[in-house]
Amino acid sequence: MFTRIAGVGSYLPGNPVTNSDLIQRGIDTNDEWIVSRTGIKARHLAEVGCTSSDLALEASRKAIASADIDVSEIDLIIVATSTPDFIFPSTACLLQSKLGNKGAMAFDVQAVCSGFVYALNIAEKYIRTGASKKALVVGAEVFSRILDWEDRATCVLFGDGAGAVILEASEAPGILASVAHADGSQHKILSVPGSICGGKVVGDPFLRMDGQAVFKFAVRVLSELAHECCAISGISTGDIDWLVPHQANIRIIESTSKKLGLSVDKVIVTLDSHGNTSAASIPLALDVAVRDGRIQRGQKILLEGVGGGFTWGAALIEY
Ligand code: UT7
Repeated sequence: MFTRIAGVGSYLPGNPVTNSDLIQRGIDTNDEWIVSRTGIKARHLAEVGCTSSDLALEASRKAIASADIDVSEIDLIIVATSTPDFIFPSTACLLQSKLGNKGAMAFDVQAVCSGFVYALNIAEKYIRTGASKKALVVGAEVFSRILDWEDRATCVLFGDGAGAVILEASEAPGILASVAHADGSQHKILSVPGSICGGKVVGDPFLRMDGQAVFKFAVRVLSELAHECCAISGISTGDIDWLVPHQANIRIIESTSKKLGLSVDKVIVTLDSHGNTSAASIPLALDVAVRDGRIQRGQKILLEGVGGGFTWGAALIEY
């Protein structure tokens, strides 16, 4: 028994905020620097009051419609997010309530930008063992809330959004390989090192990053993940029809595809229009490429992500 993707959906809030718009808002940057270093041209920023569960709801509704199922059929909801609505209850429980689903198991996964592939890894096992018949897996983020808008080296990189998939059991493939890893000793290179205690923020509540250390780590593990998934599935990297990487930086993506010997024509890139949306970025890119017809049923798709923790993971799918 395999686990297949039965439906996909995504959602970006509001209008695009271009690099020039950021300059208008007083950020000391320029379009040339952002585009040449990252490939990002615009991002979407949620209005005050709009939360990760709101974005997750819109993406989930689209995924449910594309899978042509009823919301009552979903028996497992996993939301990958590092920007939950509350400390608790989980964003997954809030999403369940907004969707009008009752009785499904619902919980969040916190693996930052690898969150979606981590959540997929977990849901795949529930489906394959028969513990779940239909799972909703979502990546949803409002990273704009944890950005230091005085730190131009980070605030220009991120955006808000959500992406979702419906998973179900299938006799035909399916997810061929799903792997996930972490190295907690690297936690300081990308973190939001703050917490709440006694009603006050303790530490630093903003995203902090050693950009160059993250860059090197990402390029190394993203190519290792591809080889690991291909070895498990008994295929070569040349058999991959589409690489759908975490949408963080065009230079990381290009370095990875070069290392893998994959032509850039086989890589789905959407970061130019929404920046780094952390756990939402992989399902956002997947949804775009499914809807515009590039990704077709039967093709081999590699989803892979890397992020704070440090965490990294991938899923090789026969779509
Ligand atoms: O999900 C994972 C998320 N993280 C990533 O993907 C980040 C990976 N890292 C990177 O993509 C790159 O390290 C960055 C794009 C973040 C930065 O690029 P870099 O080539 O490593 O730049 P840098 O931090 O070494 O800074 C180079 C210069 C500095 O100026 P000086 O000191 O050389 O005069 C910065 O002050 O670029 C300057 N700079 C900027 N200039 C204009 C930094 N941010 C900006 C900015 N606009 N927004």
